[in-house]
Amino acid sequence: MPDWVDGGAGIRGGAPEVGSMLPPRERRAGGDRRRRDRVRIAAVGDFHIGEEDAGAFRDLFASANDEADVLVLCGDLTRRGLEPEFRAVVGELADVKVPIVAVLGNHDYEGGATNEGTAVLRGRGVHVLCGDSFALNEQVGFAGVKGFMGGFARGTLTAFGEPETKAFVNAALEEVHRLELALRRLATPIRVAVLHYAPVQGTVAGEPEIIFPFLGTDRLADPIDRYGCALALHGHAHSGTFRAQTTGGVPVFNVSLPLLRKDGIGKLYYLHELSTADVSAG
Ligand SMILES: [Fe+2]
Ligand SMILES: [Fe+2]
Repeated sequence: MPDWVDGGAGIRGGAPEVGSMLPPRERRAGGDRRRRDRVRIAAVGDFHIGEEDAGAFRDLFASANDEADVLVLCGDLTRRGLEPEFRAVVGELADVKVPIVAVLGNHDYEGGATNEGTAVLRGRGVHVLCGDSFALNEQVGFAGVKGFMGGFARGTLTAFGEPETKAFVNAALEEVHRLELALRRLATPIRVAVLHYAPVQGTVAGEPEIIFPFLGTDRLADPIDRYGCALALHGHAHSGTFRAQTTGGVPVFNVSLPLLRKDGIGKLYYLHELSTADVSAG
């Protein structure tokens, strides 16, 4: 276990001292550990909850109340995307008092119940982002999409040839467009991109190279760089690499739960601290 593990459900990374402008109700959820110059983000994806997992994650998720100001779920919340599984996810989140932001993953689409599942999550108060944005406070906001696959760098699939190929590429381009619009809608000076698929090759490294094109596409990094995101969070690449960055220098974190546990980063989530001191001064 690395020496920077703090013993909670997640470890701390990012800027050393940061601060939030949380509404009074949300400040109370974390007691006196909250500070005005930081926002603490607990982030995890790929926990793949099934109906038989009731109670397995509940206490770990509740740890976010003390350790974080917001909980971010990076997709693959369920195993097969069945409505009872989405209800099981809500059950595991029952004790979480901080705001919850989520995107769906490919597993959440498998059962053909994304509308029902999204309604279940939103009924719990989860901010499900499908090209949407969520402002945590006046300074920090989240823009989220599932993303899609397609490959990286010179290995990126292009929309040439058969209609099926063009449709595949367009599915990725539509997600890029949705992310761009969500980022544009955010009025906060600090923006965080939330995805399921990887926006850079660096965080899928470690997976078999032959499947890289199915783990994400760096087309998604274009709006992340253009809007100067503070960071991007994603999942999906269970055996990838924890941290990389875009060509524009935006830090990207793969918070897939199997990876977090393998690397000793957290029992359930990665804890990132964002400094808001600079924007407060401006
Ligand atoms: Fe997954
Ligand atoms: Fe996935």
